[in-house]
Amino acid sequence: MNAPQTHHPLPIPNGWFAVAWSRDLEEGQVQRVQAFGRELVLFRGRSGQPVLLDAYCPHLGAHLAVGGRVSGDTIRCPFHGWRFDETGGCVEIPHARAIPAVARLKSWALVEKNEMIFAWHHAEEKPPDWEVPTIGVIGHPDWTAPRRVDIDVAVHMQELAENNFDPVHFEYVHGMAAPPPSEYEFAENGRFVRAVSKTTRETPMGTFDTRLVRDTFGLGLSTVVSDGIPGVGTMLFVSVTPVDAGHSKMRLLLTVTKNVADQLGEEFMSGIVQGVMDDVPIWENKIHRERPVLSELDKEIVDFRRWTRQFYSGIDGA
Ligand code: FES
Ligand SMILES: [Fe+2]
Repeated sequence: MNAPQTHHPLPIPNGWFAVAWSRDLEEGQVQRVQAFGRELVLFRGRSGQPVLLDAYCPHLGAHLAVGGRVSGDTIRCPFHGWRFDETGGCVEIPHARAIPAVARLKSWALVEKNEMIFAWHHAEEKPPDWEVPTIGVIGHPDWTAPRRVDIDVAVHMQELAENNFDPVHFEYVHGMAAPPPSEYEFAENGRFVRAVSKTTRETPMGTFDTRLVRDTFGLGLSTVVSDGIPGVGTMLFVSVTPVDAGHSKMRLLLTVTKNVADQLGEEFMSGIVQGVMDDVPIWENKIHRERPVLSELDKEIVDFRRWTRQFYSGIDGA
């Protein structure tokens, strides 16, 4: 029998996903956002709060991010001037006395931290049930100003997430020795996973027991932190957003302790970007096997897939 050659059978997952870099949205600015298979409009009102609404005006369907203007803490439609506030409610129809109660847009729950603006997506409209963690070293005086990179990949975000739990590919795709074995720990009602690998490292400053700690928060947010050498550290924050079921937007934020910035910052970042680029042709041309043939080396992938089911509505076991 022919097995199906389906590329993206998975729906868009539920959770917190970045929709913009904070610094790209100044007060009074409007941005078009494509995420969750939808057209959205993001703006920052005069009070400084970001607001994310569905993009198509309930009147005659203009796209609010294409010519829409911020007015106070509302956005004005470019077509006939209707204004919408942060709740998505219409607060003004120029020259009209009454505003129809149904003149409203979906407003998305947002949090702004770690230099990004995150929106809560849930296919069944359930409210947030976990929080985006605050990454303490971002903005810390001993750490460098973060570097940022954006990478668009034409594949479902599950493939990007799964990569972290696939130790064997590091050898074949990235030309590295397989990473040392990791210990996995599930926490916070099962929404977070921590993987820790330990290595002894020889450095000019001596020999240290170092750790590489990979935290995953929901499906799409993760950090990779190295520690163990006193006063020296690196932190990579990775955010993956589902643009739709076949496209993902990756945002990387890197900061390192200032004492190592000169040696590590530039090369470390370009190494990471190159690493992701090595994966891209595999991701963009693979299919998603719902029932893959596995070997004894794939235990992490099995555990990871089981864990990720909680983030999908409408699939078996979710
Ligand atoms: S389409 Fe938006 S005001 Fe008419
Ligand atoms: Fe990879």
